[in-house]
Amino acid sequence: MVMSHMTTMNKEMTLTSKVYIAGHRGLVGSALIRCMQADGYMNVITRTHTELDLTNQKAVFEFFEKEGPEYVFIAAAKVGGIHANSTYPAEFIYENLAIQTNVIHASWRTGVKRLLFLGSSCIYPRDCPQPMKEAYLLSGPLEPSNRPYAIAKIAGIEMCWSYNRQYGTQSLAVMPTNLYGPNDNYDLQNAHVLPALIRKMHEAKVRGDKEIVVWGTGTPRREFLYSDDMADACVFLMCLSDKKFAPLIADDSVPPLINIGCGKDMTIRELAEVIRAVVGFHGEIKMDLSKPDGTPQKLLNVDRLNTLGWQAATEIKQGIMMVYEGFLAQSV
Ligand SMILES: NC(=O)c1ccc[n+]([C@@H]2O[C@H](COP(=O)([O-])OP(=O)(O)OC[C@H]3O[C@@H](n4cnc5c(N)ncnc54)[C@H](OP(=O)(O)O)[C@@H]3O)[C@@H](O)[C@H]2O)c1
Repeated sequence: MVMSHMTTMNKEMTLTSKVYIAGHRGLVGSALIRCMQADGYMNVITRTHTELDLTNQKAVFEFFEKEGPEYVFIAAAKVGGIHANSTYPAEFIYENLAIQTNVIHASWRTGVKRLLFLGSSCIYPRDCPQPMKEAYLLSGPLEPSNRPYAIAKIAGIEMCWSYNRQYGTQSLAVMPTNLYGPNDNYDLQNAHVLPALIRKMHEAKVRGDKEIVVWGTGTPRREFLYSDDMADACVFLMCLSDKKFAPLIADDSVPPLINIGCGKDMTIRELAEVIRAVVGFHGEIKMDLSKPDGTPQKLLNVDRLNTLGWQAATEIKQGIMMVYEGFLAQSV
């Protein structure tokens, strides 16, 4: 059973629309839930990983046929830091390909009006010019340490594009920069740099340590976006009128891709200093030069999103203060 997508009806999302958020308990998924509850959305459906394993094609198709969501946010994925990516490459490519393939195909089969697929800025070439434009996709070699994950995400972009071109679906791939916020992962083996530094600084303060050690030279530049801003941008895009949404997905020569970021970056050293101030750690920050720095700079060009009228609202220090409060609340 395949529902037709070729209707003239406006497809922007409204408060009564039936919306499925895949991965609703994760960093991004939980931010989407908070944002949509705050905006008054009345018909949001979710399933936990245990209730619906999105790598199981049969279960996914049955769920879509039973529930028939109109709008879909794919915030479910296998995500992790450098250590996890280099230790479990097979799981990263298989699970991410399976999750996105099942959900994008099931969405087409059941006539979903619009779909947002979440990728990540690691899709861009390791040494591409900065800030990174959507047009730089597939213009050079990828960062090897997370290439299986990046290639899965690139395949997801191509799948959205192919279904839009062949079946007239309205699927858009969004590429967020590094995110942080409530429900982040603080496990030091798998965490991203920002939550890892918050935990390390907090524990060093509690122990009364004289110093903490930060990986690398501290000079790499990174961009960080608060997860609730990210969710706000996703809902903003899903609510765009057809007139504004169509140019994002209708061009046969440009993939249906848009970056989401705040357009500002900082060095890892500067980030460590902000976290030290927020946590109230008075010891010294030592750089471990024997550890890898990763790419020198990762900053997204967000002109496309800003031109549509969206800007990030949360400054980094304010965001880290809110996150540290949440960290303390979950540590007691
Ligand atoms: N975090 C970032 O800095 C960042 C930056 C850019 C882009 N993104 C993108 O944002 C998306 C979400 O990332 P995140 O940071 O929110 O990750 P996350 O916190 O790890 O959340 C992922 C969610 O997906 C669920 N999930 C994983 N495998 C599943 C499966 N087979 N079936 C059903 N549910 C499954 C997980 O449930 P369980 O925990 O129960 O397994 C979890 O709730 C990803 O596509 C990622 O590429 C994240």
